[in-house]
Amino acid sequence: MENNEQINPRDSYTESPWQAVDIAGTPHSTADYSLTYDVMIVGGGITGITTALLLQKAGKQCIVVEGGTIGYGTTGGTTAHLNTFFDATYPEIERDFNEEAAKLVADSGKDAFAIIKDFIDLYHIECDFEYKGAYLFSETDKETKQLTEILEATRRAGVEAIEYQDNGVPVPFQMAVHFVDQGQFHPLKYIYALAAEFIKLGGVILEKSFVEETIAEDGIHIANIGSQSVKAVNLVWATHIPPGITPFTFRCAPYRSYVLGIKLKHDAYPTGLTYDMQEPYHYFRTHEIKGQKYLILGGEDHKTGHDEPENAFKKLEDYAHKYYRVESIPYRWSSQYYVPVDGLPYIGKLTGHDSIYVGTGFNGNGMMFGTLSGKIISDQILGIENNYSDLYSPSRIKPIAGFSEFVKENADVAWRFIADRFGAEEDLDSLKELAPEKGIIAELKGSKVAIYKDADGKVTALNPTCTHAGCIVSFNDAEKSWDCPCHGGRFDINGKVTTGPPRKDLEKIPLGNNE
Ligand code: FES
Repeated sequence: MENNEQINPRDSYTESPWQAVDIAGTPHSTADYSLTYDVMIVGGGITGITTALLLQKAGKQCIVVEGGTIGYGTTGGTTAHLNTFFDATYPEIERDFNEEAAKLVADSGKDAFAIIKDFIDLYHIECDFEYKGAYLFSETDKETKQLTEILEATRRAGVEAIEYQDNGVPVPFQMAVHFVDQGQFHPLKYIYALAAEFIKLGGVILEKSFVEETIAEDGIHIANIGSQSVKAVNLVWATHIPPGITPFTFRCAPYRSYVLGIKLKHDAYPTGLTYDMQEPYHYFRTHEIKGQKYLILGGEDHKTGHDEPENAFKKLEDYAHKYYRVESIPYRWSSQYYVPVDGLPYIGKLTGHDSIYVGTGFNGNGMMFGTLSGKIISDQILGIENNYSDLYSPSRIKPIAGFSEFVKENADVAWRFIADRFGAEEDLDSLKELAPEKGIIAELKGSKVAIYKDADGKVTALNPTCTHAGCIVSFNDAEKSWDCPCHGGRFDINGKVTTGPPRKDLEKIPLGNNE
């Protein structure tokens, strides 16, 4: 970050450009702890705030409870592409569901886009919204064959797309497809504006209020937050993935995506949104922050805790230098998303519960599916029929044959459970050599310990057993955090939970004088 004071904190050490912008904080609102609210929404990202606003507008009394501040999670680290085509491609949806489902997914994307645009118009939100053309391009024969299928299935689903002679970026290509009426915006400006409108309508937002536990008594949900309790008839988990061990624990795999905010030597910034088809893929767009344009280049995604984040940034930087004349890279950040087992998100009433709702498994399309979650969940709570309820139902049963990648993910999680309990001892000589601002999992007297050495040489030791389901966390060099490779939980260097599903901090191990 350059000469910008960070205004909005995020669940990561690295900073996204959205955080640097001067956004007035969340307006004050006061919780009434004696009241039983109609709806309690846990999580103040795009899912939570959209749900809350739609319900409050419809006359429900809502309270949003957020562990950090608004946009603290992935909404503060997204690249905010607004699309009507998704990471699960239309041919995949046709194959793994059917053609009708692909049409419904396309319609739901258009509806989500319209909800965002309507809010922007209704509340005159200055969030840098722009319509954009989007380009998807192939570089190999295999990709071209896939892209041809994508073009055909996209049209069948009802999304306008044409073969095009340009891909919007200086990367050679075989074939490019142009999607019309896509978009981009500044995600924090958008949700802070929605949050302000929610409060104007009488809604309540509690920030820095981590929900430690929820219990149900006589049909009322009670969330314990420090010494206070919030009560509500309905509970919405808008925390990216619900806490604890739930069906989603094994149906959604956590991934991290890496992004650079790049100043170019010449004004060769892309004017549209562009995506290649590599695995992992790259994505491009431009955003102007405080009068300075930035190429927002993302990609090099990998499963959380399974690769070196610094490697991912390095590969992304090499890629940027290969195709652009780079002046400087003021921003480098990453954020997490969840890949669902059958490609589509889980949105709606939680299986086996009458009054608990969830929106998760958005893949890399969080702005769209977060907004759609707001609509589906609010409709369900209001008793309004929603065309997409069945398609995205958390209770749906789908074979996963078409998603062999995911079978590998689950096998990997199972392996980690075993390896973390019966793993071999490590050679600890390297511990003495540990460089400042680095972390390592060491084996001390038969027990695994998460060791971090800060810039001044002070060492912090933690029990590395994730408090969610017992996997061993890994150190994330780029973000200075302990990340759990099983379900994406994250802890800061002092062991404090910054990203669920874990609810409890990592246990600190006293180190005598060093503490
Ligand atoms: Fe599930 Fe750590 S997040 S075991």
